[in-house]
Amino acid sequence: MDEAPMLYIGEQIGKTTEDSIEVDIAVDPLDGTNAVADGDSNGISVVAVAPRGCLLHAPDLYMDKIAVGPKAKGKVRLDMPIKEIIKNLSLALNKNVSEITVTMLDRPRHDEMIEEIREVGARIKLFKDGDVAAAIATCFDNSGVDILIGTGGAPEGVLAAAALKCLGGDFQGRLHPTNEAEIKRCIEMGRDVDIIMDIEDLVKGNEVV
Ligand code: FBP
Repeated sequence: MDEAPMLYIGEQIGKTTEDSIEVDIAVDPLDGTNAVADGDSNGISVVAVAPRGCLLHAPDLYMDKIAVGPKAKGKVRLDMPIKEIIKNLSLALNKNVSEITVTMLDRPRHDEMIEEIREVGARIKLFKDGDVAAAIATCFDNSGVDILIGTGGAPEGVLAAAALKCLGGDFQGRLHPTNEAEIKRCIEMGRDVDIIMDIEDLVKGNEVV
């Protein structure tokens, strides 16, 4: 999409020898380009490697995402109402609802969800760019954030899922095409648009680094 001269989707790299292994590589040389340009946080260079066929080949469009750290693994789902998500999270983390911090991209598309989170009484930390780093932050007790919710790039979702798998966290994503052309792209790539993908659907197995 960025018309990058190399490392584009589907590019094959490396030499083949008799003992070669084939791997999938997901890479974002810079997630949070604007964040870096503005001297803001969350800019990160990320690369994930896993055995061939283990990383979802995600179309370059939006994805609805939810990410939590190891203590809340299996306790929340993308299709739960916000109220239930926060309640389950507060039980899993042994925190009051008012101590739960939801982090999300500062975008108008999240306004309704922000309103719901405020009504429930949890905190919100908005960020301008870089939801891979924000998803990773949910795995660290001292990061100040407990959960990432919201819609961002789908390829970034696969990278976040790879990182959370390594850290023992949890991630779910659902493709979010915004027009007919994007729906067509999903269908051509054999991707379902309405289903929630678990971390295992995005990153198979445990041999990811
Ligand atoms: P880039 O650095 O590639 O621009 O991505 C930054 C980012 O904030 C991602 O982390 C996020 O997934 C996506 O953009 C959100 O897209 P948008 O800016 O269209 O809301």
